[in-house]
Amino acid sequence: MNAHGLTLLLGNHTEILKLKRKFKPSNHGNKVWDSSWLLIDYLCRSGAIGYSRVLELGCGWGLTGVYCAKKQGASVICSDPDEDVQPYLNLIAKANHTKVDFLNMGIDQIKRNILKEVDVIIGSDICFCDTMIDPLRRLINRAKKASVKKILLCDPGRWPFEDLAELLEGKKGVALIDWETHTPKEIKGKILEICF
Ligand SMILES: C[S@@+](CC[C@H](N)C(=O)[O-])C[C@H]1O[C@@H](n2cnc3c(N)ncnc32)[C@H](O)[C@@H]1O
Repeated sequence: MNAHGLTLLLGNHTEILKLKRKFKPSNHGNKVWDSSWLLIDYLCRSGAIGYSRVLELGCGWGLTGVYCAKKQGASVICSDPDEDVQPYLNLIAKANHTKVDFLNMGIDQIKRNILKEVDVIIGSDICFCDTMIDPLRRLINRAKKASVKKILLCDPGRWPFEDLAELLEGKKGVALIDWETHTPKEIKGKILEICF
């Protein structure tokens, strides 16, 4: 599948099938979720990335990070606590003739020494259960202290994400944006944008 100048290998591609026999992501990192495409569309139209240093949280197969590296010239670290996503990330990066780094860490493990080297944090469909709300809230506070410029989180509109957005509502630089794309298909959701 091709969209936004990206190549995505689908679940039935020979190379993906080979990986599936060996590596089994256990916490929903088993495919590219629609929110990735939604965030890519937003990044494409808003020009929010440029040549920044980008950290993707809960990257799974990391399509959004790969987009930032390939199409926006960013230097990208994709992070996920599930090490079994890395081979899929590497394959998607290779299919797109680009390179991203992988950091095998969950949100709570990402401390200020790492955040100090980051301009923009992105994440798609990572606030999928209530136990993700507090780690994300703490990460946002650490990012502010570490002088990260912007955080962009995309979600189909699950309730934990809505709860996180509500906790931040009214704070300076915070916006919750309804977003929709037709590429590569109809997808609707929300972008939580936090500018420090
Ligand atoms: C629904 S998937 C989304 C994957 C990818 N962002 C996408 O849009 O295709 C959720 C991802 O969050 C990761 N995850 C789970 N717990 C996490 C945590 N505590 N910190 C960071 N990522 C986590 C999972 O391993 C998985 O890759």
